[in-house]
Amino acid sequence: MKQKKLWGGRFTKQTAPSVESFTESISFDWRLYQYDIEGSIAHATMLAKCKLITEKEKRAIVKGLNEILSDILNDKFEFKKSLEDIHMNIESALIERIGEPGKKLHTARSRNDQVALDLRLWTRGNIQQTRKLLTALQKELVKKGKQYPGLIMPGFTHLQHAQPVLVSHYLLAYVEMFERDKTRLEDCYIRLDTSPLGACALAGTTLQTDSLFTAKLLGFRGVCENSMDAVSDRDFCIEYSFCLSMIILHLSRLCEEWIIWCNDEFQFIEIRDDYCTGSSIMPQKKNPDVLELIRGKSGRIFGYLNSLFTLLKGLPLTYNRDMQEDKLALFHAADTVQASLSILAELVANTSFHEERMLAACQKGFIDATALAEYLVKKGLPFRKAHEIVGKIVRECIRVHCSLTDLRLESFRAFSSAIEDDVYKVLGVENCIKNYKSRGSTAPGLVRKRISYWENKLGKERKGMNR
Ligand code: ARG
Repeated sequence: MKQKKLWGGRFTKQTAPSVESFTESISFDWRLYQYDIEGSIAHATMLAKCKLITEKEKRAIVKGLNEILSDILNDKFEFKKSLEDIHMNIESALIERIGEPGKKLHTARSRNDQVALDLRLWTRGNIQQTRKLLTALQKELVKKGKQYPGLIMPGFTHLQHAQPVLVSHYLLAYVEMFERDKTRLEDCYIRLDTSPLGACALAGTTLQTDSLFTAKLLGFRGVCENSMDAVSDRDFCIEYSFCLSMIILHLSRLCEEWIIWCNDEFQFIEIRDDYCTGSSIMPQKKNPDVLELIRGKSGRIFGYLNSLFTLLKGLPLTYNRDMQEDKLALFHAADTVQASLSILAELVANTSFHEERMLAACQKGFIDATALAEYLVKKGLPFRKAHEIVGKIVRECIRVHCSLTDLRLESFRAFSSAIEDDVYKVLGVENCIKNYKSRGSTAPGLVRKRISYWENKLGKERKGMNR
């Protein structure tokens, strides 16, 4: 027998099967079940408080909903396409289970405020999960940094050797990025923290309800103050999708770097075998596919953000069925970013740095040249002058194939009489690193402090949002 539609009253014909398949969302919005039930329980509680249903009816509804929840959790619930979406699947099951009181649940509510609520609740929970995964990745990066306290590598600009930096300093750069991502999530959370339930279809209701009460029951800071805005607002989807885009952008930069670093030219890092994959034809190959896939998936995430913008941009107020598509973008984006975060944390833990290769790379590219220019500034020369002198010294080194440390004092003094034998205390990568002073620089003492700072901060972080 065909499933009777909850909205079937004004129709003379059954929905065409092709239309049912085309319009359904249960195949993807089923995962809102927990939030749908949570919202319905709060709604029923409010209806009873406002005497729109009796206490007894409320109890029957709550019991029925909890039974449905446990059926879903135990894989005993059949989601039906003919019932369109998660909201009607659960409401129909409730009516089937408890009869008359079930028919009162949808009093002073529409699927329009219901879906807006469910999606906000889902996003709220999902933000917390993403935040935890960011913290876990940060912890791995800090741990890795601590594992190589004194290791020096060439820092790059334009992907050319620039100045020496501590590997731990490099790793902490990403920790900072992920911290910003966390604050962005918190910010997004603040704005989505109002309940749309009570807006009903678009205009509110003529019944005496209490939407602030449901909002409090559901742990919201407040209520959406305009019913039309409440049902048509999907800003939070776009904002969260932007947060996710920024996260995967950061991941993708790290991946790109490590893909380069594990090739034969660089050989800066070694990813453990079980985190790499092989080639079907070339027996010798060991490929960083995980990193490449994260980098590749980032394109899809930026695409979802764009698709949400495009989805919303032409929609007149208030609810339009187009909005059903928001979930596909948001769910896929969140799933992909979370999977990327968690696998990258594992990969970081299972990657080691080739200390000799990094140190050897530091010998190339005159990465102590800026330190020499600053040495001349300390001797009283204007920086521009110092820059020019060191440029000429470097040119000479290139001509005679040597590094700055190889030059004898007389050769230096041919370029500037300000250079004395203490110059050798600033040349060479170890000296460079030792001599950094400024805040936020790669000075070993400062980096050590920053590592303890992060260990402390991340270690103390409680589960969930820091609010
Ligand atoms: N499945 C719908 C969605 O995701 C639920 C809301 C349907 N509302 C409506 N008036 N048809 O947007």
